[in-house]
Amino acid sequence: MTRLNLSELAARSAAAGVGVSGFVSRQQADAVALKELQDWLLGQCESQYFLHYLRGGLQHWSRRWEYPYVLSQVARWISSRADPAAPCTLFDNACGVNATAYLLATAGHHLIGTDLGDQPSAEGDLPSSAWSHPDLAAVGGSLHFQTADSLALPFPDAHFDGSYSISSLEHMPDPIQAVREMIRVTRPGGLVTFTMDVAPCPSAVADESQVNRSNFADLQALLASSTDFFSPPCFMIPDDALSWRQDCRRSSGLRAAAGQLRRRLVGQPETPDFHVFGGAYIKRS
Ligand SMILES: C[S@@+](CC[C@H](N)C(=O)[O-])C[C@H]1O[C@@H](n2cnc3c(N)ncnc32)[C@H](O)[C@@H]1O
Repeated sequence: MTRLNLSELAARSAAAGVGVSGFVSRQQADAVALKELQDWLLGQCESQYFLHYLRGGLQHWSRRWEYPYVLSQVARWISSRADPAAPCTLFDNACGVNATAYLLATAGHHLIGTDLGDQPSAEGDLPSSAWSHPDLAAVGGSLHFQTADSLALPFPDAHFDGSYSISSLEHMPDPIQAVREMIRVTRPGGLVTFTMDVAPCPSAVADESQVNRSNFADLQALLASSTDFFSPPCFMIPDDALSWRQDCRRSSGLRAAAGQLRRRLVGQPETPDFHVFGGAYIKRS
């Protein structure tokens, strides 16, 4: 059984500049390094079942950066502990069905994933069955799924060593409460890391992002009041290493055109080019 080597992942992601370059636009060289990191990650996933989800995610316009970003923050944090081999209890908030929790479980860690309900993925897989897939029998750690609303998590304070959320918080009606809950359930000194789309307009964009220019500052204020930076906050900017417009046009021009028409009809800004935000924080004692 291949174990995801977290110190190698941490070193490779640092070399690729994932999560350590701060508020800068990425150069073409970074896109090449990111691709190398993605290829390496694919090679670490022994399970064909989870490989399918990992490959699909790495082809998605934002997840191609978000999966390596979150995995590399978790890897860097675990590798920086006094005993990097000691198993951690980690929380995948609004997990859906994807391969990140599986990869961390292969490295020997214990994962709990939650989502609103047992809703099927596009392929028809339920989180509860994905998280109890037979391929998990071979991993050193464990994975457990339970349904939960991220706005009111059913866990005591300081329950997890680390918490992460990928591309989910922006879809919740109160993203700031969701981050408050993530911080609450993480132990002091533990890692809180997440990615989210941020709409570059003053209000929410229905069905796409509740996080926008207005409440992004509130989110930063919440984080500043109870956490320290683990790495510099990072913005990925479409048309650079990511391209929402290009990918939507390529995969479904009709969908993009319908979206634009709907926005025009309801008076929303036309084609907001979402920025993708990644943050990694340490909960203060
Ligand atoms: C875009 S998907 C991302 C899923 C997964 N993190 C990934 O990267 O593939 C967003 C997820 O957020 C979940 N979600 C939305 N609102 C939620 C809430 N209030 N509580 C828990 N999960 C929620 C959805 O059910 C969905 O699975």
